[in-house]
Amino acid sequence: MAYGLLKGKKGIISGALDSNSIAWKTALKAKEEGAQIVLTNAPIAMRMGEINKLAEMCEAQIIPADATSVEDLENLYTKSMEIFGGGCDFVLHSIGMSPNIRKGREYGDLNYDWFMKSLDVSALSFHKFMQVAEKLDAIKEWGSVVGLSYIAAQRTYPFYTDMADAKAVLESIARGYGYRYGKAKNVRVNTISQSPTKTTAGTGIGGFNSFYDFAEKMSPLGNASAEDCANYIVMLFSDLTKMVTMQNLFHDGGYSNTGISEEIISLLENQ
Ligand SMILES: NC(=O)c1ccc[n+]([C@@H]2O[C@H](COP(=O)([O-])OP(=O)(O)OC[C@H]3O[C@@H](n4cnc5c(N)ncnc54)[C@H](O)[C@@H]3O)[C@@H](O)[C@H]2O)c1
Repeated sequence: MAYGLLKGKKGIISGALDSNSIAWKTALKAKEEGAQIVLTNAPIAMRMGEINKLAEMCEAQIIPADATSVEDLENLYTKSMEIFGGGCDFVLHSIGMSPNIRKGREYGDLNYDWFMKSLDVSALSFHKFMQVAEKLDAIKEWGSVVGLSYIAAQRTYPFYTDMADAKAVLESIARGYGYRYGKAKNVRVNTISQSPTKTTAGTGIGGFNSFYDFAEKMSPLGNASAEDCANYIVMLFSDLTKMVTMQNLFHDGGYSNTGISEEIISLLENQ
């Protein structure tokens, strides 16, 4: 059911790789709620061509941009402003990648060039998205910027390796830029800390299936799906959350506040 929450709003959605992506579901939901959107992803991710299907469904244009390139982001905002006839109301940063995780490197054996790449792609790009937007005045008053995080920013998950550090930086940037952009233009900036979700980025993490099942059993509501996450993101883009900023918001079925659950106890007792 649509509520018209984003009627008349315009926004940029990054990170839709395929139909499992959180960004993919968000684009569909934002469209359903009345928004006009521009889609973006790294040029290399577009080779699969999946994003064209999404663009068709959302009647959206695609502007390729490597999120680590300031020049690409300048082009993204400039072209979006032409399409929108002015600034945008919301931006979704749904981007993450760690070469160390991809190549199975342990936390005690990280390749530091790759570590820098993880930080650049997964965290600094969030800052770049906002710094470039602010300089070009590409986000309107009371706009909303959302990034996606994971609880490994606060607690250790051994297989999450350098992505945990990247997520900690991402959440810190939400506070730092949230303060600055709030003062400058009433733009709000938040991160959503999402449950483990079966996407390309998610399932690439070592041991993913086990910690997906563990989180499912720990959370009183179970794991939050990508679609539920899209709903939460849309709410943050809407005017209903105008005064929410600089927050890391857990969207995890209650996982983050659960010490242990009956399901985990009975699993251990039946070992
Ligand atoms: N899946 C999970 O379990 C989970 C849990 C919590 C948070 N998140 C976060 O959600 C976000 C979206 O991931 P997802 O789970 O939808 O997976 P996904 O693999 O569908 O999306 C990740 C996206 O990042 C894009 N990307 C990678 N490098 C890029 C670059 N240099 N420039 C531009 N885009 C680039 C990819 O092309 C891809 O579209 C990520 O920040 C991820 O860390 C995921």
